[in-house]
Amino acid sequence: MPVTYKSQRIAYPYFVVALCLFALQIVAGIWLAISYAFTLPQGLVEALPFSTMRAFHTNLLVLWMLLGFMGGTYFMVPEESKSEIFSTKLAWFQLILLTATGVAALVGFLFGWTKGRPLLEIPFPLNMLIVLGALVFLFNIGMTLLKARNWTMIQGTLLSGLVLLALLYLFGVPFYKNLSIDWYYWWWVIHLWVEGAWELITSAIMAWVLMRITGVERKTVEKWLYVEIGLFMFTGLAGTGHHYYWIGAPDYWLAVGGIFSALEPFPILLMVWDTFQHTKHSKSGVTNKVVWTLVIACSIMHLIGAGVFGFIHTLPQVNYYTHGSQVTVSHGHLAFYGAYALLNLTIFYYAFPRLHGVERFRTNLGHLGFWITLISMSVMGLAFGVAGVIQSYVERVFGLGFMTAQAQMQLWFKVVIVAGLCFAVGLGIIIYDLLSMGRRARAESGAVLTQSKGAAAV
Ligand code: HEM
Ligand code: HEM
Ligand SMILES: [Fe+2]
Repeated sequence: MPVTYKSQRIAYPYFVVALCLFALQIVAGIWLAISYAFTLPQGLVEALPFSTMRAFHTNLLVLWMLLGFMGGTYFMVPEESKSEIFSTKLAWFQLILLTATGVAALVGFLFGWTKGRPLLEIPFPLNMLIVLGALVFLFNIGMTLLKARNWTMIQGTLLSGLVLLALLYLFGVPFYKNLSIDWYYWWWVIHLWVEGAWELITSAIMAWVLMRITGVERKTVEKWLYVEIGLFMFTGLAGTGHHYYWIGAPDYWLAVGGIFSALEPFPILLMVWDTFQHTKHSKSGVTNKVVWTLVIACSIMHLIGAGVFGFIHTLPQVNYYTHGSQVTVSHGHLAFYGAYALLNLTIFYYAFPRLHGVERFRTNLGHLGFWITLISMSVMGLAFGVAGVIQSYVERVFGLGFMTAQAQMQLWFKVVIVAGLCFAVGLGIIIYDLLSMGRRARAESGAVLTQSKGAAAV
């Protein structure tokens, strides 16, 4: 089935830019792992310093994921609201503005133009352009929905997630002289994004995709949306406290953060359960098998990366030893990949065949790319985890120096490099598959494709 509304096509350039930035993010990640695993010549360190490349890696991550969500929204909203996008010109303008600002920020980092706060390094003037891009996006989506007057629970959830995301970003824009206050608000962006606003977006998109590919009734997915959102907000908001243990905030955060964030795995668990309930509804009816695999993998890896790996270091008694170590990095990778990289891939694999206008496509490359990235990211997450446990013991339990710990950890960073290279191969296959599936399907159009031969209807 090709796209139903012409303006859905605007999603295509968003996805292409997102995929390019994703690939660049991986290159920067491998460089970071090399910097940890080997002692590099000083000239190289000065040319591409760790801090700059880390800013590249994480800012590219945030940018490609946001562009993926925005493209996904432009793809979903016309079908949900049964109307064209208010203005595709504005959508183009917004894409160019955000991409240009992102590139300018990356070049700026190379010359030391940075605010220095991890993940939110972008300096003030460029931040204003990002805020403008976000406003244009919200205006465009808001006007589409207002004109269509066809409200659904899924749209409402998606829009609240997007508005919350934009509002929270504003708290990270000023620089507060008092460092405790600065970090206090930094977490409003970082934590309340991934454990609040982005979870709303995930719930809405997953509900929509499940409805589309399994044919489960809207009533059923919407019923779960209410419960999930309620629980996410209840646990995620107060769960912010798990970042306030050691920044100079009042003591009560130890209890609030510990208790509420320990409850955070529940809404995620519910999401997995809910997904599996829907699988029962229509086992044979699922058409796009790659999306189906991705939906299930996303719900399980979300639970492992965010729920389990988040939970293991969230209690103050444990976090006292692991705070800011590679245990955190292990959780960061597994959670971001499990919840949000896989969510983006779900959107891409649902939308791309339709944007290419193909009825059926071969699923072998999609499955192959997915499994390679999944296995390499799991190995990488575990290697970071082992390095983190060594680090916590050597530095925090035995009280030895930073470099003594690093020397013991280097082997595990070598494992990270190998896993990272494999991940790059998997991602290469996925990008090739997504971008060329239209051309290949048309070239094969004479051939008869069947499900058993590994083809999927869209
Ligand atoms: C595949 C190759 C990759 C490699 C080799 C890699 C490696 C690294 C390294 C070495 C760091 C620095 C950790 C530190 O500061 O101590 C880092 C940070 C980070 N990476 Fe990756 N990465 C890769 C892919 C990814 C992907 C696919 C994602 C997300 C889906 C991701 C998300 C992050 C995040 C969120 C951080 C910051 C973590 C924190 O502050 O704790 N990375 N990465
Ligand atoms: C999909 C959702 C999630 C994502 C993408 C995510 C990502 C991250 C990242 C990137 C960091 C490192 C930030 C930094 O210091 O630079 C972090 C820290 C942390 N996360 Fe998560 N997280 C998620 C959900 C959770 C959940 C559900 C829990 C608890 C059950 C949790 C517990 C923690 C804790 C305790 C830290 C602080 C670690 C430290 O003290 O160094 N996270 N998370
Ligand atoms: Fe958090």
